[in-house]
Amino acid sequence: MKKIEKLAIFGGKKTIPKKIIHFSWPPKSNSAKMNFINNFLKKDKLNKKGFPIVVEKFEKQFSKLVGTKFALSTNSGTSALHSAFYALDIREKDEVIVPSLTFHATGTPLLKFTKNIKFCGCDEIGNINIKDLKKKISKKTKLVVITHLGGHPCEMDEIMNLKKKYNFKLVEDCSHAHRSKYKKRNVGTFGEINVFSMDRNKLLSVGEGGVLVTNSRDLFEKCLLISDFGLRLKSELKLKKNKKYIETGFGFKHRIHPIAAAAALFEITKLKHYINLRHKKLNFISKKLKKIKGLEPPITKKYVNRGAFYSYRIKYEKKYFNNTNFDLFIKALQGEGLQVRKAGNPPLETLPYFKACKPKKIKSSDIFFNTTFSIPTFTFEKMDLINLYLRGFQKVCNYFYKKSFYRDK
Ligand SMILES: Cc1ncc(COP(=O)(O)O)c(C=O)c1O
Repeated sequence: MKKIEKLAIFGGKKTIPKKIIHFSWPPKSNSAKMNFINNFLKKDKLNKKGFPIVVEKFEKQFSKLVGTKFALSTNSGTSALHSAFYALDIREKDEVIVPSLTFHATGTPLLKFTKNIKFCGCDEIGNINIKDLKKKISKKTKLVVITHLGGHPCEMDEIMNLKKKYNFKLVEDCSHAHRSKYKKRNVGTFGEINVFSMDRNKLLSVGEGGVLVTNSRDLFEKCLLISDFGLRLKSELKLKKNKKYIETGFGFKHRIHPIAAAAALFEITKLKHYINLRHKKLNFISKKLKKIKGLEPPITKKYVNRGAFYSYRIKYEKKYFNNTNFDLFIKALQGEGLQVRKAGNPPLETLPYFKACKPKKIKSSDIFFNTTFSIPTFTFEKMDLINLYLRGFQKVCNYFYKKSFYRDK
């Protein structure tokens, strides 16, 4: 029989003492990075087209990395999504479908264009549920937005088949999924316009920033028009219908800060290294978690590559823990000094801002949100810390397991 120790929340000894720093992200600014950024700032030159060289270089590298014709950097992922919805000409009467489990900004900018938003439940990964999508889709659907949650690509074969059948536009929110692949194809290459956040928590982390990619000149120009004005538009707009807006653009300024672009240009060369470190640590945790009854590591399908692996979500199976309340289980882990929390963001249909869409509660999302918790996506941390996390899991699980479960063993 496994030893049952007194939990820290009930006065026992903490598994991880307070003084240990758990998780460090974004990557520390070392001298190489500072020199790189300083060099750009010293010159701070505009290119012949009238916008910073550093921005042009980053966009070229990013589009090359994803494999699209165009990339346009913005001051946030939210701005990139807003640009995308604007460029796709979403109007009041248009029907759109958005995943229920995602960060709110996947859907919030849409409300500026239409309130006709349907929310779609999730599959076992947390991604858009194809069965539910099939139920909600119709000939009236103008746009489907998907999020590759936690870096795990959505079921793209099925989504692309539906796209062919219903002829909707697709936006991929790839904010969690830098360098993720579905059957060897990069995410960010399936939809008309696809978006990546580069905020401080993301794999490509620049403080605040975003980038959108597309293969369509028309859509690129529309996004550019909402991002910028003047010089850049003068040199980059090729389509006659757009040229009359050169002075003003479309009245927003979503363009990126050059310092963020310089940071992005530096960080883009490190992604592979970060991904390797992260996968090594998280795969180790998954292997060990498989031996702890009642906690399920995140599923990764054989035909995908998770790339950024943004957020590591563990499923809690109450039945193994004497039906212990999920919140109490999390509190017990936190009490042990583990940095864990309910995974992700509440389903969009539960958020007051989306009330105007008259959403209904979605069972699959509710269950997913209330049975998964996340741990830090360890990247640079030492194995000692990771082993302490595993010890903390085991300790809390041992406590809440049914006693009969142990007697049987
Ligand atoms: C899935 C998803 N979409 C969009 C965003 C918005 O990006 P940003 O914070 O750069 O505006 C985020 C940020 O957390 C996100 O996780």
